[in-house]
Amino acid sequence: MAKKKLKIGVLFGGKSAEHEVSLQSAKNVIEMLDKKKYDVISIGIDKSGRWLLNSTSNYLLNSDNVKFVKLNKSNKEVVLHADNKGKLVSVNDEKSGSKIDVIIPMLHGPFGEDGSVQGLLKLAGIPFVGAGVLGSAVSMDKDVMKRLLRDTGVSVGKFFVLNMGENLSFKETKKRLGMPVFIKPANLGSSVGISKVKNEKEYKKALKEAFKYDSKIIVEEFIDGRELAIAVLGNESPQASIPCEIITDREFYDYEAKYSNEHGALIDIPAKISKTLSKKARKIAVDSYKVLACEGMARVDLFLQKKNNKFVVCEINTIPGFTSHSMYPKLWEASGIPLTKLLDKLIDLALERFEKEKKLKTSVK
Ligand SMILES: Nc1ncnc2c1ncn2[C@@H]1O[C@H](COP(=O)(O)OP(=O)(O)O)[C@@H](O)[C@H]1O
Ligand SMILES: [Mg+2]
Repeated sequence: MAKKKLKIGVLFGGKSAEHEVSLQSAKNVIEMLDKKKYDVISIGIDKSGRWLLNSTSNYLLNSDNVKFVKLNKSNKEVVLHADNKGKLVSVNDEKSGSKIDVIIPMLHGPFGEDGSVQGLLKLAGIPFVGAGVLGSAVSMDKDVMKRLLRDTGVSVGKFFVLNMGENLSFKETKKRLGMPVFIKPANLGSSVGISKVKNEKEYKKALKEAFKYDSKIIVEEFIDGRELAIAVLGNESPQASIPCEIITDREFYDYEAKYSNEHGALIDIPAKISKTLSKKARKIAVDSYKVLACEGMARVDLFLQKKNNKFVVCEINTIPGFTSHSMYPKLWEASGIPLTKLLDKLIDLALERFEKEKKLKTSVK
């Protein structure tokens, strides 16, 4: 008898400045999922947070006895309705409430890649692809991410953080980090809200721009070097792909270069670097992945510095782009795993983690 098809929910869109990128990633994933193995359900989240599909007086028993106190079970099952209104909905009344086996969150940026959706899915008891709550949250926040890496001896560039309401003069910034500097919202992606700054006028403008997107921003020294990316896959024993190089003649790899302009950047796979450097880069990628509690997948971006041929980590992306020209799927393809197979692996990893977590004791009795 044929194996029962798994119901895979692809969750995309969302309340993030990366909404549009997410739509393109989801489209590619939905197209490439093996329809012989999976029934695919598309769940689009609109910009207001609605999930669109193409549930006290008598609640304790023995309440005055610490030993025998128990929840008084009712037969009304409810689920969290994730429409941003904090609504609980009765499962019994929901005719369309079919069970989903695995969710693939194809959401980039806040509300999707930062642990919030992961927390919701965990509470809902649905296996999902990619990092869990902790890995997602610490990897998303560029400040926390860099501090954790630095703490374990993974090199990152110099930086400092400003919270909304704080300020540091251009002169002082220049003294600390030199010029140019990069100014970024701490929690975003796709280069949204990021500026490369060379003078005081640009500095003020860049601070304003970054604070539009986050209440915490990060100011980084400019790293003069080649930009590389490595795809990592796995739970306990993650594997690294070959590295690629991002080559752009723009000021940096900005939003335009990433998505709007066909000629904005060239992705060179594999990166033309020595075997020794490639091995080093892959080790740094796996080390970073582990330090940041990643699971399932992540893409690690590095700079190979001109001045000393040494790597520094730029960032990690726990839900990297999955568009047809995105690096994560392309890197695995070049490393021998085409996208359809890669999705099989990611689904297996999601189920593997779920089963492992299910075995953990949740009671001392
Ligand atoms: N400190 C830096 N020095 C040099 N270039 C940088 C630096 N930080 C970022 N960049 C450039 O800006 C791009 C986007 O920055 P990144 O930190 O990766 O943000 P995002 O999460 O939006 O992708 C990088 O891909 C790189 O081209
Ligand atoms: Mg980046």
